[in-house]
Amino acid sequence: MTQADIGLIGLAVMGQNLVLNMNDHGYTVAVFNRTASKVDDFLAGPAKGTKVIGAHTLNEFVSKLKTPRRVMLMVKAGDPVDQFIEMLVPLLDRGDIIIDGGNSHYPDTTRRCQTLKSKGIYFIGTGISGGEEGARHGPSIMPGGHPEAWPHIKKIFQDIAAKVETGEPCCDWVGDEGAGHYVKMIHNGIEYGDIQLICEAYQLMKDVLGMTSDEIADTFGSWNTKELDSYLIEITADVFRKQDVDGTLLLDQILDVAGQKGTGKWTGISALDRGVPVTLIGEAVFARCLSAMKDERVQASKKLKGPSPHFKGDRQSFLKNIFQALYASKIISYAQGYMLMREAAKDYHWKLNYGGIALMWRGGCIIRSVFLSKIKQAFDKNPNLYNLLLDDFFNGEVNQCQTGWRETVAAATMQGIPVPCFATALSFYDGYRCARLPANLLQALRDYFGAHTYERVDKPRGEFFHTNWTGTGGKVSASSYSV
Ligand code: 6PG
Repeated sequence: MTQADIGLIGLAVMGQNLVLNMNDHGYTVAVFNRTASKVDDFLAGPAKGTKVIGAHTLNEFVSKLKTPRRVMLMVKAGDPVDQFIEMLVPLLDRGDIIIDGGNSHYPDTTRRCQTLKSKGIYFIGTGISGGEEGARHGPSIMPGGHPEAWPHIKKIFQDIAAKVETGEPCCDWVGDEGAGHYVKMIHNGIEYGDIQLICEAYQLMKDVLGMTSDEIADTFGSWNTKELDSYLIEITADVFRKQDVDGTLLLDQILDVAGQKGTGKWTGISALDRGVPVTLIGEAVFARCLSAMKDERVQASKKLKGPSPHFKGDRQSFLKNIFQALYASKIISYAQGYMLMREAAKDYHWKLNYGGIALMWRGGCIIRSVFLSKIKQAFDKNPNLYNLLLDDFFNGEVNQCQTGWRETVAAATMQGIPVPCFATALSFYDGYRCARLPANLLQALRDYFGAHTYERVDKPRGEFFHTNWTGTGGKVSASSYSV
């Protein structure tokens, strides 16, 4: 009887396409789905003529697998993952491997690693990016979990992953426990930021410059040949050319209410938990939240006054400014994302390879771009690079874009166009390069009203002082812990 190299559970579009991708690379894949008819449909449809083996029960499915058994779950994140794990464990032997390829929340992955380890089963939680197309022809794959399992899946994963120009796969081991899903979460947060930056550029082009959809498409098309060369800029140009059935621009018919499945929010929560100012992704999440308040916005638009956008000046130079704002803000966003990964790695004792992560994102995934090879180069040059902004290349790029970036944020503000991500990126930049922030006043106020104490510039760090600001307060101060 043919024994499958790997089994996959969950035949939604990502699952189906991964199976076909593995089949193309010579692997025999066994498949199972909770609704068994989906297995038959798949075998009679997209998998017709392939080596894929169908199974109608979990027992049958497990019996088709070579040992150590490799079972990949492509089911909805959350309870379904736990349910399948629970059903699989009694059917598996020690040393077998369960892989979760969904967008799971990283603490769940860590918990599953711990539970399964005690049962002798290895667990991998892997981020997979690239949508349907990527899954079929080469996604970016970010595996983490039990390192003992990696040698058993490395070849399959690296074979089916996207490759960069030099032939290297966009897949490598990320780290222990939830590290793979954490890195995928950061990828998604950055995806939120990139998308919001594009949307801010769009609103300026449309509302301030009054550009037509063809002009906007051409502009994004030309940006895609420059520093911003990336999948998201490329598909943005396509979107501005897509017509609805009646020949009008489809985009104009789409409701301005953004959806979100939670990975951007998790990134924001993780940033707040670790005290890392990942402001751009935070603003990108909030921009989606604000968009979702459609009815309220419509009401408010009738009452709340502001300037009406109009443009005087040189259109080409304004467009160049927008380009620079987008590029510089994008650099800030990636710098912030990397800052967060660094802190998480410290907390969880992960040894993250930052250049390797850039390489994994260089191809296959939604944020793939030429820009990521520059990040890879920065970490190749200096593996201990503390902050991307301190790399000579990125420092130089931000510097070159600065005037256009500031002009864009200023013009948007004067014209009443919201640019939360352009603006927060600039404020972060100005804050990060500020040797003395007004937090001295903040500390004084905290100490004044709540005896929260402060440190002094003329004393060593860690020594805390309290002043009786009014002469009426007592000598007792609050404790000085920081979250
Ligand atoms: C990917 C994407 C994908 C993500 C969607 C939807 O890497 O292929 O990141 O995993 O789920 O983009 O995300 P939102 O619904 O939250 O926008």
